[in-house]
Amino acid sequence: MDDSTFKAHRKTQPRAVDLYSRALESLAGGVGHDLRRGHPLPLYMSRAAGSRKWDEDGREYIDYGMGNAALLLGHAPPEVCRAMHDALDLGFHFGNDHPMQLEWAELIQELVPCAERVRFVNSGSEGSMLALRVARAFTGKTKVLRFEGHFSGWHDGVGKGAMVPFDEPVSAGIPPAVLDTIEVIPADLDRVADLLEKDRDIAAVMLEPSGASWGTGPLSVEFNEKLRDLTRAAGVLLVYDEVITGFRYAPGGYQEYSGITPDMSFHGKIVAGGMPGGVVTGRADIMEVFDYTGDAHRDRYERVHHLGTFNANPVSTAAGIATLKRVATGLPHERANQLAGRLRQGMDDILREEGVAGYVYGDVSIFHVYLEAFPGSGASVREQLVTRDVNVLKGIPAPLVAAFQKMLLARGIDLVSYTGGVTSSAHTDEDIALTLEAFGEVIRSLVREHMIATLK
Ligand SMILES: Cc1ncc(COP(=O)(O)O)c(C=O)c1O
Repeated sequence: MDDSTFKAHRKTQPRAVDLYSRALESLAGGVGHDLRRGHPLPLYMSRAAGSRKWDEDGREYIDYGMGNAALLLGHAPPEVCRAMHDALDLGFHFGNDHPMQLEWAELIQELVPCAERVRFVNSGSEGSMLALRVARAFTGKTKVLRFEGHFSGWHDGVGKGAMVPFDEPVSAGIPPAVLDTIEVIPADLDRVADLLEKDRDIAAVMLEPSGASWGTGPLSVEFNEKLRDLTRAAGVLLVYDEVITGFRYAPGGYQEYSGITPDMSFHGKIVAGGMPGGVVTGRADIMEVFDYTGDAHRDRYERVHHLGTFNANPVSTAAGIATLKRVATGLPHERANQLAGRLRQGMDDILREEGVAGYVYGDVSIFHVYLEAFPGSGASVREQLVTRDVNVLKGIPAPLVAAFQKMLLARGIDLVSYTGGVTSSAHTDEDIALTLEAFGEVIRSLVREHMIATLK
């Protein structure tokens, strides 16, 4: 960042300017996560509670990011904090198993339909890695079939498909041999059927069942049903990435919501109550790959080897249990879904009133905003815009996305990423009213500045 940008923000965000200048000298890339770069400064938070968070410059935000969608109950819910404190006082890292891990596992088994057995990890990405290893060990096959735009963590094994252009690696540094194990196609059932027929080396189809990037490019339940049939018929494992959908679409995640049971799923975020943690769940016969049998050859060469210093650490476990007990009631979902529904409707009404070429969509407690960049396609009615095409929905030009996020932030609204966010059960009626007011102002400014198209 150049000096003039620093100068421009020194008056309004003096702490953020100071912290970012330090960060540029210590943190590689200046931030701890690529999506935290900010426009032009990262946000530096000092405190969060309920639906709100406060930055180091004293600015307050209504938070629809909710810890990258990890917090269904809002920030710092008292019973989750208490449970973590209690666990801390008993010693926060044994490096051994402990009874709480079993309570956590049993809660997950009760909630998640495919969870005949579970294995804990430390994040969604680790869950994705381990699920792939299990699928390969169980089937004896190598490849994973993924869909365009789906994100399943940052590791090499899913290093292609999440980002446009979808057939290119998402990062430098991924070995070509690993990229060769990933097949990426559009979410098209004919293409799936064709590939499963032709390529006998596919171990698993791994997807976000909601559709690409937590439903930015949505998939229907019917699509998922047919995919279940196709994978079963081909003897290929169906693996759901429920890192975002898990415990959010319903207490039992997308599996409960849709009535479709995959062979395996992996979860992060809500499962550990917003603490580092994750879990791989699956059919008992598949998860037997973890078992020691006493057969020395099989145990050395055919079982899945899995370690992890912090797996099911007591503090994450306590947070997970306290959160899942609330999740099991279904009450947080009722509240969060109702608020998100009002937000979606209110935002969509604003776009309609302003004649904007765009619309708001999303399931349960999730909202996504699609905006057509100026000058637009010339559509005259918004129905012409409605699509499931991930290239379109994930293709809003970066400057427009940045302006949208920046203008909302300036009005105290933070999102998960791109143009979408999530609600929690801690959001309030006042949050919704203030957000709609801010959203209206942002949309009118973007129209005035000729950044978004209007209907002709
Ligand atoms: C759908 C999905 N899968 C996997 C991941 C990776 O999880 P983590 O960031 O915990 O590694 C994420 C993270 O945002 C995600 O949204």
